[in-house]
Amino acid sequence: MTQDEMKQAVAQAAVEYIRPKLNTDSIVGVGTGSTANCFIDELAKIKHLFDGAVASSEATAERLKSHGIEVYDLNEVNQMDVYIDGADEFDPHLNLVKGGGGALTREKIVAAVAKEFVCIVDSSKQVDILGDFPLPVEVIPMARSYVARELVKLQGVPEYREGFVTDNGNVILDVYDLDILSPKALETKLNNLVGVVTNGLFANRGADVVLMATPEGVETLKN
Ligand code: A5P
Repeated sequence: MTQDEMKQAVAQAAVEYIRPKLNTDSIVGVGTGSTANCFIDELAKIKHLFDGAVASSEATAERLKSHGIEVYDLNEVNQMDVYIDGADEFDPHLNLVKGGGGALTREKIVAAVAKEFVCIVDSSKQVDILGDFPLPVEVIPMARSYVARELVKLQGVPEYREGFVTDNGNVILDVYDLDILSPKALETKLNNLVGVVTNGLFANRGADVVLMATPEGVETLKN
């Protein structure tokens, strides 16, 4: 099975996972990235079963709308039962690294609102310890050099994602070589650096469920 076929398989599994939870008032939170795109295409097939969606990026909003799915502003939504999104890495405790596509801040906000966060991945994203994938940090543009110097003090090697601006008008530093042995503590520490908007560690609010596609089928992992 190719990686694309695994993304397709886990997207279908995610739709089957959430289908019993939906009713005509339901709002579905939808993530960003290639796996989330496969999910959106599958979700469109059951759009008569729910009210609409909240998108974690402009790209996701466009794709949802292209399928005729109503996209709500998060401020209009009182309750969201489920948020579905991909990840760049996940560990055995279902802590995640996200933000390879640069949508980490809106992803973290939508995940915070949802009662359940369902993460959809293929098995290439499974690691014992987070940190092989460079950790994205969204930064207010004028703070870029200051935050980079602070990240070096934390033994990280920050690299400016040149030419990339987030949906929020900010920049991304991708941090290499971080030793992420305490994801919750590091997430909090990075958030406390002045000028940091968000970092891509989803540990204080990690996934509730990971659906992982393997060549043999889709596995359901829970804490
Ligand atoms: C977007 O900013 C990311 O958090 C994505 O969820 C993550 O990069 C996974 O993307 P793929 O599904 O394309 O691997």
